[in-house]
Amino acid sequence: MPPGGGGVPQQGRGMSKQAASEHIEIDGVLLKLSRPNDTTGGWIGQREILMQLLACWLTVDASDLPLTPRLIGPPGVGKTQLAMAAAAESKLPLYIYQCTSDTRPEDLLVTPVLSQNGSIAYHASPLVTAMIRGGVCILDEGNRMNEKSWASLAPLFDQRRYVESIVAGITIPASPNFRAAVTMNQDESTFEIPDYILSRLQPTLGVGFPNKQDELAILQYHLPFAEAEMLAMTVEFLQRSHELRLDFSPRDGINMLRFALKRLAQDPEHPISRDKAWREALEHCLGEEALDLEAAAERRRRTLGGDAVPLGLADFFFDADDPLHPDRDDEDDDEL
Ligand SMILES: Nc1ncnc2c1ncn2[C@@H]1O[C@H](COP(=O)(O)OP(=O)(O)OP(=O)(O)O)[C@@H](O)[C@H]1O
Ligand SMILES: [Mg+2]
Repeated sequence: MPPGGGGVPQQGRGMSKQAASEHIEIDGVLLKLSRPNDTTGGWIGQREILMQLLACWLTVDASDLPLTPRLIGPPGVGKTQLAMAAAAESKLPLYIYQCTSDTRPEDLLVTPVLSQNGSIAYHASPLVTAMIRGGVCILDEGNRMNEKSWASLAPLFDQRRYVESIVAGITIPASPNFRAAVTMNQDESTFEIPDYILSRLQPTLGVGFPNKQDELAILQYHLPFAEAEMLAMTVEFLQRSHELRLDFSPRDGINMLRFALKRLAQDPEHPISRDKAWREALEHCLGEEALDLEAAAERRRRTLGGDAVPLGLADFFFDADDPLHPDRDDEDDDEL
């Protein structure tokens, strides 16, 4: 692993030490750097995927280059957390760029800002700061960003390893220690990323739902003050939803449990029952459909038109609409 903190900034004339450490001059243009993200948090369980991500960032020879993987998976499964934990394990400073549908190329690279004395100051984005400092940049929710913005990163993610800021009129090379990962999830508000970009973001690492033991450890890690009984109920619920291919995630579990615990603690004189607090949290955090997982799974199966992974043994032997299927419900045909 490379050491952290490469690309020591040059000291600008007449600036204090503190201010100087936040600036760097490239081809005569003074850039103000972003601050690293100091959020901490480890990665629990699923060691293999963490090792795969760390392998992407290794260089095995002086002429080797690191890879920039795509981390994909359903919302709340831990993609961002995984990349943050990998940065911590690599002992590199972490920068996170939150991609949105209106991210412009200059937001991603260098933004001109009108300063108090009327001159223009150039601010380096978290991505460019990671390139200069030799840190990790997570391009979070990368598929929310449009093609134009992605195009500005094409040279960064191949052997060229630089970006060109049109706004500042400079080319910025990445430190050899610069590493990146892109997180993505599939929902309606995302763009198709063009193939020439996708081919630079490899490999694809799929983050899946944790097993029972890991999920319990994740909830305990985030809510160490939760009672064992409440934790167990939540883990049971999440594991059942994973079995049924519903998208309730560790994040959903953390949020609902947090709400349930607050409701329980609210009135020590007249405490509501654990069961009531838990069910109420389930309904208000995850929606009514969470109250009946089996029915939710059945609805989802129907909307997917039988594309969902088979749930019963008979599904392995018969198509969903096979008249010989033992669970076939003839009324379904009228509805479909
Ligand atoms: N293996 C894990 N170890 C520790 N915390 C985890 C793990 N998996 C999930 N979490 C926790 O679950 C929550 C959701 O994780 P995270 O925000 O990384 O999900 P995500 O996949 O990036 O979601 P989104 O697609 O919505 O951005 C966070 O609080 C995170 O810390
Ligand atoms: Mg995320």
